[in-house]
Amino acid sequence: MGKLRLGVNIDHVATIRNARGGAHPDPVRAAALAAAAGADGITAHLREDRRHITDDDIDRLMDTIALPLNLEMAATPEMVEIALRHKPHAACIVPERREERTTEGGLDAAGQLEHLRPMVGALVEAGIRVSLFIEADPRQLDAARALGAPVVELHTGAYCDHAGPRRDKELARIQAAAAQAAALGLECHAGHGLAFETVAPIAAIAAIAELNIGHFLIGEAIFTGLDASIRRMRQLMDQARAGQ
Ligand code: PXP
Repeated sequence: MGKLRLGVNIDHVATIRNARGGAHPDPVRAAALAAAAGADGITAHLREDRRHITDDDIDRLMDTIALPLNLEMAATPEMVEIALRHKPHAACIVPERREERTTEGGLDAAGQLEHLRPMVGALVEAGIRVSLFIEADPRQLDAARALGAPVVELHTGAYCDHAGPRRDKELARIQAAAAQAAALGLECHAGHGLAFETVAPIAAIAAIAELNIGHFLIGEAIFTGLDASIRRMRQLMDQARAGQ
């Protein structure tokens, strides 16, 4: 079984910084710390309204952080232009507006094939590894394949938000989607809402190559520090992967 990569999403360090409008806490400092704590990549979402990560943060992350950057972005001409200018390692296309989403919240790739096709094409052409943040839904996986995106990121929000039989059902859906991704030749990632309590069953899915985790790690860092929260997550992922 391949190693499971951890992408640390630093958006909410910027959320706290922006609450006061200054420079502290700096998400780029958090990215450097995440690298030292064992992260395999840094994820940042440059939202259209710039509510957390800013253009300057992306400039500085690209200039100073050695880890691969996964730029989360809406499928808009402005964001495609920014991605093509920076050429991050990866770009994950996420929905920002309600009409771009499926009922659960992933990108409705199947419903906007013609809108997405030229943007995915331009990013792939530039050598950026494109992923689509989708629900664990066979139609959305087929759409990703049809669009030529090499990677899908499965939305784990519903799995994390529910307990009991509904969580089991969501986990089964994610397991089936990861198997479908492998059969389609797509690299499979997962993320959204993952925490210490929920990560193990997802990390144990062999077809998943990367988890992107942010809000919980930054929140937990208030109590234990960012280094400790990332190291604990890494340990739980590695143990689940090793079948312990
Ligand atoms: N993956 C994607 C595509 C996301 O948009 C987000 C949230 O920005 C995450 C993973 C991380 O989610 P969380 O912050 O809840 O861990």
